[in-house]
Amino acid sequence: MHLRLQIQKFNYVKIGYLLLFVYLCWPSRFAMIYYENIPGNEIYDNLIRKISRNLSQFNQGIQCDYTELLEENHYFYKKFTTDDIINKIEIKSGGEFWPEECTPSFSTAIIVPYRKREEQLKQFINYIHNFLRKQQIHYKIFVIEQGDDKPFNRAKLFNIGSRYALKENFPCLVMQDIDLMPLNLGNIYACTKRPRHMSSSLDTFRFNLPYYGLVGGAIAIATEDFVNINGFSNVFQGWGGEDDDLYKRLLNKNYRIIRFHPSYAQYTMLKHTRERRNPKRNEYLKNSYLRFDIDGLNSLVFSEIEIHKNTFFTHILVQT
Ligand code: BGC
Repeated sequence: MHLRLQIQKFNYVKIGYLLLFVYLCWPSRFAMIYYENIPGNEIYDNLIRKISRNLSQFNQGIQCDYTELLEENHYFYKKFTTDDIINKIEIKSGGEFWPEECTPSFSTAIIVPYRKREEQLKQFINYIHNFLRKQQIHYKIFVIEQGDDKPFNRAKLFNIGSRYALKENFPCLVMQDIDLMPLNLGNIYACTKRPRHMSSSLDTFRFNLPYYGLVGGAIAIATEDFVNINGFSNVFQGWGGEDDDLYKRLLNKNYRIIRFHPSYAQYTMLKHTRERRNPKRNEYLKNSYLRFDIDGLNSLVFSEIEIHKNTFFTHILVQT
């Protein structure tokens, strides 16, 4: 009898430890408590419905319905395989798409900074077209390649991309890294009324948000708001800090960042070697505010080496 009690007690302790272990490892353990987010059933009302060109001629003005997409929020990710060929016919040269069976409510320029990651470029382009077409939005992909040997300037490449998107009247910009794959179809690539940090639930951070002001990875921002904050700073060369500086620019103009519920904002990151860190990033961040009005879109200098309409994206090669 005594022995049986002891065995039982031992089992309870074991189960207790096991539960504690599972709790500690649970990927989204902290995901909810750190940030303000839009639940799935409120996403549609928070979106800015605006398109860059008249697309109703293709479908007698029948509006696309996003209810199912947002409510069901299907998990989409499937590891890239070479036979996963996208249907070329539907995608217009330069990497533009709009659904033809209905008129979309959103036009989004997807801006992707790039240098020397050919394999990732292939994977990203293939994946993102398959993903975005399911969302029935109008979009175009701009890949902005840094053609010089200076340290990578992600922020400046975003600024450059926004110039091209502006020329084509895109009302919404999604600025995103090439190594990030959105997992949930409900994470619609359209702009919310408030600038949105899209990749708040990233696998490499165990689906947690490391700090409230993080806006790196992927962000959706209305073009007019991006212009209003004078875009990114151009001075950040090498890894780190440019997104923290953008956050300060947003606060300075009273924009409050928003995010989707973590179950909508999940991303997976492809493996890669790290970019060289910018040793000056903390110094720049200390005096960000001195540069808000004089460093950004209004001081952007670059030269276009080549612009090419590829089958799946518009490729813009620049010298920064
Ligand atoms: C850097 C950011 C980066 C973040 C997450 C920060 O220390 O300044 O640029 O996005 O870490 O990796």
